[in-house]
Amino acid sequence: MERTRWYKDSVFYQIWPRSFKDGNGDGMGDLLGVYEKLDYIKSLGVDGIWFSPLYPSPGVDCGYDISDYMDIAQEFGGMEAFKKVLDGAHERGIRVIMDLVVNHTSDEHEWFQKSRQRIDPYTDYYIWRPAKPDGSLPNNWDSMFEGKAWQWDEARGEYYLHLFAIRQPDLNMDNPLVREEVKKILKFWLDLGVDGFREDVITFISKKEGLPDDHLYPASKGIRFYNHGPHIHEYLQEFRRDVLSKYDCMTLAEAPLVSPEMALSYISEEDPGPNGSDIDMMIQFQCMTGDCFLTDYMPLKFSLRRLKKAFTSWQEGLLGKAWNMLYLENHDHPRVVSRYGSEKFRKESAKMLAAMYLFQQGTPFIYQGQEIGMTNWYPKTIGQYEDVQTLNQKTWLPDGLRLKLYHRASRDSARTPMQWSAGEYAGFSTAEPWFSINENYKEVNVEEAEADPDSVLNFYRRAIRLRRKLKIVKDGSFKEYDHSSGKFYTYERSDGQHRLLVICSFSEKEELYKLPSGFDFSKGRLILCNYKKVSRKADRFTAHPYEVRVYLF
Ligand code: GLC
Ligand code: CA
Repeated sequence: MERTRWYKDSVFYQIWPRSFKDGNGDGMGDLLGVYEKLDYIKSLGVDGIWFSPLYPSPGVDCGYDISDYMDIAQEFGGMEAFKKVLDGAHERGIRVIMDLVVNHTSDEHEWFQKSRQRIDPYTDYYIWRPAKPDGSLPNNWDSMFEGKAWQWDEARGEYYLHLFAIRQPDLNMDNPLVREEVKKILKFWLDLGVDGFREDVITFISKKEGLPDDHLYPASKGIRFYNHGPHIHEYLQEFRRDVLSKYDCMTLAEAPLVSPEMALSYISEEDPGPNGSDIDMMIQFQCMTGDCFLTDYMPLKFSLRRLKKAFTSWQEGLLGKAWNMLYLENHDHPRVVSRYGSEKFRKESAKMLAAMYLFQQGTPFIYQGQEIGMTNWYPKTIGQYEDVQTLNQKTWLPDGLRLKLYHRASRDSARTPMQWSAGEYAGFSTAEPWFSINENYKEVNVEEAEADPDSVLNFYRRAIRLRRKLKIVKDGSFKEYDHSSGKFYTYERSDGQHRLLVICSFSEKEELYKLPSGFDFSKGRLILCNYKKVSRKADRFTAHPYEVRVYLF
């Protein structure tokens, strides 16, 4: 089937179902709740939804531990509710993509239950190894979430590999039967009408033969032996050849530690694999390192230069060759206003950040709550955290410091219930929600934002409308100005005829801004900004804190 690459015109909204909207009053978000809010989603101007996992799961990793790939969890309303949402979305011109989590399953998945008892054909569905002759673990790899990457299984009398939580055993993708299962899953959902997949840590699925010890890496030992592993392109090509190529669908790969150059080996449109490019877009992590080193748990002082480098290198690196996925938030990172913006200038900085990424080239994703400028959550005790990753980070730190680190880095900061109103339980549910609500819900909520023409929400709507109207945003070239500035991020999109100039201040103070040479204010039209009073002289202005201006020349 011809690939129309429809996603290049789309804007996506990510739903993390537990915390989006409770429709049946049991305190847990669900599909009935999503159904109620489809018009709201549509009103943002988005035309795609990515659902974090909706499948049956014991919930050790909030659904990323799947026990049945071909069903929808009862707590979310089951298959019937899903079909209703899918139809409702399609009727509104909204496409739907699912989360495909096939690096690992839940330990409650039938495949694992049978594999541990060596029941064929499941015996080699997972990565089982005996201890080393000296009795030690099969190798020295680390798990991302819980200690070492190996767990002893009594029933089988062997260790199994888990790159994530203990209860998330890794599948053995080298086994052709497992790849057949993946293809069945893809086909099942595509035939049901979904429009594509976000593929969870998909670059981890091929492990180096022999699973060697890692003597190089101090932390995340082993990652160089399974990230972008030996057969990764082969397996992705196989999925494309046998299933994906038969549908006009979209795929999005989560890819830790990937540069634009490396990304091209997966997503190049100029030089794709024999069956087409492996996947369509990458979720890269470099744009998440403006205030940390590699992961949120290695915090650094925010550096605008580092952030600019991340965004710009992907814009320049993929231009004309492949397509970017753009994001500032998802369920795995704290809220962006609290990180790259300012809680003190919440509205201003939320808007500036929105414009900063929405006018770049690529398909933008907005994470639930981002569109109203939700901020991080600051619980008083460690015990209030739920997330398996959070609770296993730096457990050796004294409590006070640990709490401070979690405030800054935890994924739970972005997982509190969506704030719909100033009413009881923030309008998320009629019952006590499954998880704490951010204390600021009385000021920060959808109801308040709907009533205020200058809200963050309405700014998102305007920015999305503009990005749709201006073809230059989709196709224009990219050029960065003020490269060395630690205060401003300025870039231009151009189609030869017109130029779009986006000027973003990342400063809490007023700052003098000088227009790059070659631009004349008197010729430009200000099409979007986040302050009412806009001052200007011929070639300079004093920017307010976190001011953003978008000009069309
Ligand atoms: C991905 C998901 C994350 C999950 C992990 C293990 O990074 O986005 O939420 O915990 O994979 O599946
Ligand atoms: Ca519910």
